[in-house]
Amino acid sequence: MDEKIEHLRALKAEARLGGGQARIDAQHKKGKLTARERLTLLLDDDSFHEFDMLARHRSTKFGMEKQRPLGDGVVTGIGTIHGRTVCVFSQDFTVFGGSLSEVFAEKICKIMDYAMKIGAPVIGLNDSGGARIQEGVVSLAGYADIFLRNTLASGVVPQISVILGPCAGGAVYSPALTDFVFMTKGTSYMFVTGPEVVKTVTHEEVTFEELGGADTHAERSGVAHFAMENEVECLLSVRKLMSYVPLNNREKPLLKPTNDSPTRRCEKVKHLIPANVNTPYDMKEVIRDVVDEGDFFEVHEGYATNIIVGFATLDGMPVGIVANQPASLAGVLDINSSIKGARFVRFCDAFNIPLIVFEDVPGFLPGTDQEWRGIIRHGAKLLYAFCEATVPKLTVITRKAYGGAYDVMNSKHIRGDYNVAWPTAQIAVMGAKGAVEILYNKDIKAAENKEEKARELQDQYDREFANPYEAAERGFVDDVIEPDMTRIDLIRALRSLRTKVDTNPWKKHGNIPL
Ligand code: HXC
Repeated sequence: MDEKIEHLRALKAEARLGGGQARIDAQHKKGKLTARERLTLLLDDDSFHEFDMLARHRSTKFGMEKQRPLGDGVVTGIGTIHGRTVCVFSQDFTVFGGSLSEVFAEKICKIMDYAMKIGAPVIGLNDSGGARIQEGVVSLAGYADIFLRNTLASGVVPQISVILGPCAGGAVYSPALTDFVFMTKGTSYMFVTGPEVVKTVTHEEVTFEELGGADTHAERSGVAHFAMENEVECLLSVRKLMSYVPLNNREKPLLKPTNDSPTRRCEKVKHLIPANVNTPYDMKEVIRDVVDEGDFFEVHEGYATNIIVGFATLDGMPVGIVANQPASLAGVLDINSSIKGARFVRFCDAFNIPLIVFEDVPGFLPGTDQEWRGIIRHGAKLLYAFCEATVPKLTVITRKAYGGAYDVMNSKHIRGDYNVAWPTAQIAVMGAKGAVEILYNKDIKAAENKEEKARELQDQYDREFANPYEAAERGFVDDVIEPDMTRIDLIRALRSLRTKVDTNPWKKHGNIPL
């Protein structure tokens, strides 16, 4: 018996070494951690419970039968984050460059199926040279098995992809199907075709980092939601994200204890709105003043900065925040911000996370670039997402709520549950300047002093429309509140909405304008 146990222990020790010490050293030299070191950082201490540690590939081509490392290049299993179960896989670059084989894919699929059975999130740590070349089409089949599971799990359990090395070719589509993509600066990249192929096909010269590094995807393409400085920061941020989300779509997020009083007034926002309606201010200051302990976990921070999305808590209740940012492009809605907002709203709705909207929006961005690239179709995504959402939906209009954007940003008309405005709000079809130009063009032209006439008419328009009171009269906002009461009022409403029940008509699925 002792001998057999010794044998088992030796096998497991061998499995833990992955591709061997030399390759582990090479991994460290590149500034990267090993698959197992990463799991240690991601999961609670001593919580990792490994599956399929003794799996080996079945390939016999290219002399592969002579190299059959235990585990076959991916570490899979369950563990806990903040005491709650998650399913994980961590690709091991020290074994065949983390390349995906039939057995490798089977291991990932097994843990994904397990996650679906128990209702637990899936967190995948990616560091791979892609399809295992020696296995050919079998490897491609393995990817497809994973893509199918990603899609079926979408909206059932949260899925998070962490890119910590190469992720290229069709392999990028598994992360792309998941809810959040984290990348590390300088050590990770994602692209469909690498710089060499790009050079051949389009004659462009581009580096790995420029083409598919963390900053590129976090700021330009929007593929990555987070670009982190290093792996430690990255994995700790995944843990933080997990504190806001429930384990599956049948659960509500857990309350996070806070020392911030639910009756605290928001002193900072009191005088934040500038006298001039076109002067920018930072909406993040509003968010931080309202939420618990000023702690706002921003998602997609570097992408489409004219809209802000992220998580926070209010009296311990996790919420998803969507806010226009007057400090970036005046907070206008354009293609990228609509897509960014819509995706976030749909995540929150899928996982029972209430939505809080802070609104200061001058409308949709005009211009041929936006029109020709389809602002109509893309803007409709945000509208669709808000319309479809049945979670508690709260809106605070701080300043401008103009035109179609007023409707889109979680207005009362599309099932906003608690919509309020600050006295500085202007709820109107458009701003005074544009409106007066359209309505009184002839009068202005005929006037002796055109500028004075225009100003007089604009003042008149402002008195009539640049306020929240017409909307309040009609019940389109539930109240006009003093800004420093924002936190108190939102918490009161949110508490009452904890028992909210709302549904959409039965359908196989809707047809969001993709
Ligand atoms: C088998 C692979 C491999 C692969 C790397 N290795 N990629 N083995 N299949 N795809 C092995 C190497 O032979 C090497 O083995 C070890 O992993 C480390 O690789 P290095 O090249 O030494 O590392 P590095 O210099 O860091 O370069 C990493 C790399 C490079 C840029 C990822 O290895 C590379 O270009 N690999 C091929 C990438 C690729 O074209 N993959 C197929 C993409 S298409 P030893 O024994 O020397 O340590 C694809 C389709 C997916 O993935 C489709 C889904 C639908």
